[in-house]
Amino acid sequence: MLHVGFPAILNPELLSVMPEGIELIPLGDGLDHPIDIDVWIPDPYSTRALRVWPYLRGVRLVLSLMAGTEWIPATVGPHVTICNARGAHNISTAELTLTMILAMLKYVPLYADIQRSGDWRRRSEASQLYQQLTHDQRTYHPPVKLEELTGKTVLIVGHGSIGQEIERLLGPFRVEIIRVARTPRSHPLVHSVTELDDLLPRADVIVLILPLTAESTGLMGAHQFAQMRQGALLVNVARGGVVQTDALVEALNSGRIRAALDVTDPEPLPSDHPLWHCPNLFITPHIGGSSPQFDARSLQVAAGELRRYMQGEPLHNVVQAAT
Ligand SMILES: NC(=O)c1ccc[n+]([C@@H]2O[C@H](COP(=O)([O-])OP(=O)(O)OC[C@H]3O[C@@H](n4cnc5c(N)ncnc54)[C@H](OP(=O)(O)O)[C@@H]3O)[C@@H](O)[C@H]2O)c1
Repeated sequence: MLHVGFPAILNPELLSVMPEGIELIPLGDGLDHPIDIDVWIPDPYSTRALRVWPYLRGVRLVLSLMAGTEWIPATVGPHVTICNARGAHNISTAELTLTMILAMLKYVPLYADIQRSGDWRRRSEASQLYQQLTHDQRTYHPPVKLEELTGKTVLIVGHGSIGQEIERLLGPFRVEIIRVARTPRSHPLVHSVTELDDLLPRADVIVLILPLTAESTGLMGAHQFAQMRQGALLVNVARGGVVQTDALVEALNSGRIRAALDVTDPEPLPSDHPLWHCPNLFITPHIGGSSPQFDARSLQVAAGELRRYMQGEPLHNVVQAAT
């Protein structure tokens, strides 16, 4: 009988998707004694999971409910197999990405501010913002107060599970898509990340949706921001560490680019951090995976992986194979 530990906070009804032949062991946040389990489903909040880990004995497989698993290898060591919940957060993260792109091109943060100030006449600020960002000094009548996504070029860095869903949602906007991943391929054309610097000047919107690894840490820095078009939009829904924060603060303050960040480095962002005061920036506090469907979808992915594990079949979402 396989012992599977799961966060006690989860709705037990959702665990009905788990295969038969296992014993499900709820792991409460206040766990204070050693416990034997074979498979660990950690709490999605790493701080709570890290409180439980010291009491776990015999773990051979970790089934994360998250797509990003960067804290787990250093915690559990190399002799444990780790799988992520690839696919479970596609819809929520891709929808947030589309929301951020449209919100920035439609100046929603400015209009939310205008709503709070109760001053309709401030709408003229949108025309100034458009001119500052795009350096487009042509006379428009009536003046520009919003931009369009349709027809723009969107560069997606990371063409995995979520990157492909973002491309699917962008479909109706008839944008040109440029794809980048670790490994280049065709049908559809996906460029190697080694070409990134050359591709950046072609894009109006750059979406980061790749894992944080040794290779991707600091991928976007001062040199990359300098390659971006004047006023181009950087959307980071990956991990904060993919972007060099100091260089981003500088690029935003100089008025060169705009950004929407669901993730930051550091996280949580301290209240005195300069990012809070940068212009042309929209920040959400790492909510890309948030959805009422989160538990059910993630557990469905974990259950599929567990079934394969029990039947000795290859696992689909291995991010670390046990040595
Ligand atoms: N904001 C949020 O709340 C939130 C929610 C979910 C996920 N995420 C983040 O999104 C990441 C991606 O999730 P996913 O499910 O789409 O993962 P995935 O299916 O594994 O896809 C990852 C993609 O990134 C590419 N990649 C990996 N390393 C790269 C590098 N150094 N340079 C360029 N591309 C690289 C991969 O290239 P290949 O195809 O060539 O392997 C692949 O296309 C997660 O790791 C997580 O950090 C954030």
